[in-house]
Amino acid sequence: MASGTWTAKPSIGGAGVIRKPTPHLSGEKPPVLPPGQIPRHVALVMDGNGRWAQERGLPRTAGHEAGEAALFDVVEGAIEIGIKEISAFAFSTENWRRSPEEVKFLMGFNRDVIRRRRDEMNEMGVRVRWVGRPKRLWKSVIDELQAAEELTAKNKVLTLNMCVNYGGRAEIVDAAAALSRDVQAGKVKPDAINEKVFARYLDAPSMSDVDLFLRTSGELRTSNFLPWQSVYAEFVFMDVLWPDVDRRVLWRGIEEYSQRNRRFGKA
Ligand code: FPP
Repeated sequence: MASGTWTAKPSIGGAGVIRKPTPHLSGEKPPVLPPGQIPRHVALVMDGNGRWAQERGLPRTAGHEAGEAALFDVVEGAIEIGIKEISAFAFSTENWRRSPEEVKFLMGFNRDVIRRRRDEMNEMGVRVRWVGRPKRLWKSVIDELQAAEELTAKNKVLTLNMCVNYGGRAEIVDAAAALSRDVQAGKVKPDAINEKVFARYLDAPSMSDVDLFLRTSGELRTSNFLPWQSVYAEFVFMDVLWPDVDRRVLWRGIEEYSQRNRRFGKA
């Protein structure tokens, strides 16, 4: 076996060998924590790209470009520490309110990043999934998201939910509309509706509840990201702009998470 790799069940695009994440340049390793103190699912609000660019006298789009390396370094660090699912807020249903130039940039950027990174994700055993609304989203972006989903469908190391044209309220409203249609068609009885039944109508029914909700840039809000899935998440807000993030920021967030006492409503 080549060094730095281990054998695994073949993934759709891979040759049966999954590549280990490349260690961080600093040589730092993830903190050693009991498995029960490592979040299974981490939601990322990658905030602060615009301010990062502004501080350097650059256009806002340069901040988004710099954010790409941050996201994929975090994915490698997540694999190293044993996280199973990451949801990245790449474009919200509210981001259409930005200038036409920035919207156009973000659409093209998402499309290009997904195409550029899909083989690397596949090599590491990452399953890429799109979570969001088709309405208004560029067809070329949907095509790339679907191609990445197909290529990586069987991967099991980590699931990366790319939340593109995602909004929490939009997701819940769309679910309510779809459920109503099934009630009207006689497929679901109103009295049988419970949380589990409702969740089947969400954008990604198999998404697990969020354990750690991490937002950068010092802003203290959730901005309509995964409200249904985050009701018992632990929230960690970090005073670092997204383009300055690397996997060590994720690890610090997990250390903070590991100190929390999660009770889920119990005494
Ligand atoms: C917030 O920064 C970020 C977004 C609008 C989402 C886009 C995120 C990226 C492009 C990062 C990497 C993503 C991919 C797909 C590789 P902001 O513009 O709100 O920053 P500000 O609050 O400083 O203005």
